[in-house]
Amino acid sequence: MTALMDVSDVESGYGGGKVLNGVSLRIHKGEILALIGRNGVGKTTFMRTLIGLVPLARGSIRLDGREVGGDKPYARAQKGMGYVPQGREVFGALTVEENLQVGAQANRRRASEMRDKVVDYFPVLKAKFQQKAGTMSGGEQQQLAIARALIGGPKVVLLDEPSEGIQPSIVDLIGETLLKITKETGIGVLLVEQDMGMVESIATRCCVMDKGHVIDTLTRKQLADENLIRQYLAL
Ligand SMILES: Nc1ncnc2c1ncn2[C@@H]1O[C@H](COP(=O)(O)OP(=O)(O)O)[C@@H](O)[C@H]1O
Ligand SMILES: [Mg+2]
Repeated sequence: MTALMDVSDVESGYGGGKVLNGVSLRIHKGEILALIGRNGVGKTTFMRTLIGLVPLARGSIRLDGREVGGDKPYARAQKGMGYVPQGREVFGALTVEENLQVGAQANRRRASEMRDKVVDYFPVLKAKFQQKAGTMSGGEQQQLAIARALIGGPKVVLLDEPSEGIQPSIVDLIGETLLKITKETGIGVLLVEQDMGMVESIATRCCVMDKGHVIDTLTRKQLADENLIRQYLAL
């Protein structure tokens, strides 16, 4: 099976210091691939390297067969990479509708097809279309951030800790919606998460990162092994 995204031997870091020491993984159509690891191992740096906010020092990032590792972030978005940063970063002073319009710039043709779909997936947004995003709850802002990434019709979406600071019932809702989206659209998701409940309930596989490497890839069955997970997260 060809991968939607094929990441090979990625190295990157900040100012001379390396954080990632050769990360490789593949995301397939319709898959939710989780990425876990202790704080500071490089998960966010990896996401930022994939979207192009941290320059790729070495290795390759192929999206649907095409190398994108040298592209600017907007070009990667245009080619089908969606990104939801850690901490969401919705535009608080803009309305829900305006936030979605920003996301639509990634690919206006695909956005015209996706516009109705994303509000169907996240109906809470429909009711708040003219509300300023900054006045909404954390869970609503997270749903908006995901919808903003989806509206450009991406092939792959990178989600960095969507559960952070959100009440459990909304985390469940977001998880269920992600499952539905991947099943119905074939979009692939890379999900960085600390919430092992969410990972266990929706991930198809799970990569474990330590010190800038993927040290293991777990099956769904292994994800249920609490001792193994505890060991990897060194809780
Ligand atoms: N903007 C930055 N400048 C310099 N170092 C950074 C920056 N962001 C993160 N780091 C460092 O990179 C390492 C990995 O951080 P990060 O990718 O945020 O880890 P994680 O998301 O797994 O918690 C840490 O040692 C962190 O201090
Ligand atoms: Mg992080």
